[in-house]
Amino acid sequence: MSQIPVSHSTPTDLIASDGFQLHEDDRRAMLTEREHYEQPQAACIEALKIVQKRHGWVPDGAIVAIANTLGVGAGAVEGVATFYSLIFRQPVGRHVILLCDSSSCFLTGYEELSEALSQRLGIGFGQTTGDGRFTLLPVCCLGACDRGPAMMIGNDTFGPIAADDLGELLEAYP
Ligand code: FES
Repeated sequence: MSQIPVSHSTPTDLIASDGFQLHEDDRRAMLTEREHYEQPQAACIEALKIVQKRHGWVPDGAIVAIANTLGVGAGAVEGVATFYSLIFRQPVGRHVILLCDSSSCFLTGYEELSEALSQRLGIGFGQTTGDGRFTLLPVCCLGACDRGPAMMIGNDTFGPIAADDLGELLEAYP
């Protein structure tokens, strides 16, 4: 398993990491996003999502590439990336599991599900399985409070989930 460390990158570190190549389609999509806003900084979150959609996470070099594309400082882009917990600044598994730990889910079986999930995967929160298949992360309300305990795997939302359902559920994500 691997741990997702907390990023301590500074704008200076980011400028040094220049190996990242922004895909031309992504660059165009970012410029289109930028046109939607008066302030180019407002397009940062969409630009980060564009990179994450293609690469699965947002490397340091992508922060600089986004900054250059939008015409904003790398520090501003990094600030947005750090603020949004669902922008991943370290590599993640092929499938990211987001387990809701907010109140409704907590009351409807979060703890049992969390324990069963950790046991089955052999990892804790913030970790990735050794085969790179799953990353497990906690998340605030997924908007499925009437179906708690709820979780997402990739873009799919599930709930309510019993610990016994996990085997079949996870098998669908090779
Ligand atoms: S509290 Fe879990 S989905 Fe809302």
